[in-house]
Amino acid sequence: MFGQKMQAIVLAAGKSSRFQTGKSKLVETICGQEMILFSTNLLSTLNIPTTIVLGYQKEQIQEIINKKHGGAVNFIKQQEQHGTGHAVACTQNKWDREHILIMNGDMPLVRQDIIIDLYKKHIEQDAAISFVTSCCTGSNHSYGRVIEDGKTIEIIEAKEFHGQKTEVCIINAGIYLVKKEFLQDSINEIEKSETTKEFYLTDLVKIASDQGLTICTVNAPFDQIRGINNLQELWAAEQVKRAELIKHWMEKGVRFGIAHTVHLELDIEIGPGSSIGCSVHINKGSRIGKNCIIQQNSIIENSILESNVMVHPNSIINNSYISSGASIGPFAYIRENTIIKEQAQVGNFVEVKNTILGSGSKAKHLSYLGNATIGKNVNIGAGTITCNFNGVSKNKTIIEDNVFIGSNNTIVAPVIIQEDSFTAAGSTITENVPKEALAISRTRQINKENYGPKLKKRYEQTERDTKESFIAAAKVKEASTEL
Ligand code: UD1
Ligand code: CA
Repeated sequence: MFGQKMQAIVLAAGKSSRFQTGKSKLVETICGQEMILFSTNLLSTLNIPTTIVLGYQKEQIQEIINKKHGGAVNFIKQQEQHGTGHAVACTQNKWDREHILIMNGDMPLVRQDIIIDLYKKHIEQDAAISFVTSCCTGSNHSYGRVIEDGKTIEIIEAKEFHGQKTEVCIINAGIYLVKKEFLQDSINEIEKSETTKEFYLTDLVKIASDQGLTICTVNAPFDQIRGINNLQELWAAEQVKRAELIKHWMEKGVRFGIAHTVHLELDIEIGPGSSIGCSVHINKGSRIGKNCIIQQNSIIENSILESNVMVHPNSIINNSYISSGASIGPFAYIRENTIIKEQAQVGNFVEVKNTILGSGSKAKHLSYLGNATIGKNVNIGAGTITCNFNGVSKNKTIIEDNVFIGSNNTIVAPVIIQEDSFTAAGSTITENVPKEALAISRTRQINKENYGPKLKKRYEQTERDTKESFIAAAKVKEASTEL
């Protein structure tokens, strides 16, 4: 669409000092996606070749971009950060298209339409420089103000602005489209600010205005151009994105109980008819089918849920696959590489890791199932533990179809419990169990006839003896204090 006419420069070298975290803000996530990827994804969708200016924490940011885009994005290093004007000047050798789109890297909510609109108007008006503006309410913000007096137009940075701070003003969004020739002629004209000792890219507007060149502006909604300079603005931007995602899934037939408490990330799917409860998190990589119910405080992370899955409150499902009709929780923890098959049930306080639980099987109370392959229609009794770790290696437990594991079993892997067998409650299973067998591994019970009353008498005598010796000891102590 933009043909061979446009290339992009994204500014991402800054120190993020206003974040106070020591980390570059560009690696912080918004709805599960690192901030810098919002710009690179947008530009890659629009097919605009992109160069990113990096400096502070260059390696971390580069790694995130390369992981996503392979080698498709170029990088330029800004050794020391002397401001946005200096950052753009560092990229001079890379300018090979007619128009250069420059974007701040800290504006994750920008939509394609803004760029398309900016490009159209810039071309239509044959502008030297075009930039995006917005209307900002609140006088105490850190945006550059766009000041126009009929003939001239300029951007005055917040730190340099000494005029009347009105509640509503036009601000510079941080997206510019500049003719290459004008950029080449003017980039070195920018002078260092007296206040901050930085070179402001925004001075290009005054330079163009002073030369009587055409300057074009495009207005965009503030929520789409929010810049993120501190943790509060990060929180606000994430709120906007999250609300957008919730609205999107509502339009696709997903019911949200108490929508403002739910956290959704990008790169998820939720099928129509599904219902998402209060404070649920659905994190990236998750695919939830139709008519699932996910109840309050549950977290679904990079997992697939087929249709009609029921997740009871306070459950965590991590890197796992839950087949249709299965039921999970409350308070279940499904950890990585687990497959729960159709209609299986995992109940309260059950942890499952690296395990296949066959269709129709049940593990409903207080269990740990790890490194296990469990067949169909198996019953795992309450309190069952697969002992899969010997301190050095992990071992496998195989439980075949229709097995009944009694309550409070300790199953010491490696072990195979063959189909249609039973294990008695309280057993420690260390040997394989053959097909259809009953395994009992516990001390045999002895009943001593009429032993109860005798035992009671003995206990009562012991109790009396103890009391007497206590009184005697107290008397001795009293006598010795009197002396
Ligand atoms: C900038 C604009 C301001 C605008 C606002 C919009 C300037 C001088 N001001 O201010 O008019 O309203 O964005 O959000 O441009 N960066 C570098 N190298 C540097 C300095 C910054 O690459 O030496 C990068 C940062 O990593 C960031 C971007 O440039 O991604 C913008 O810098 P920032 O410090 O956030 O500028 P603002 O003060 O927000
Ligand atoms: Ca900023």
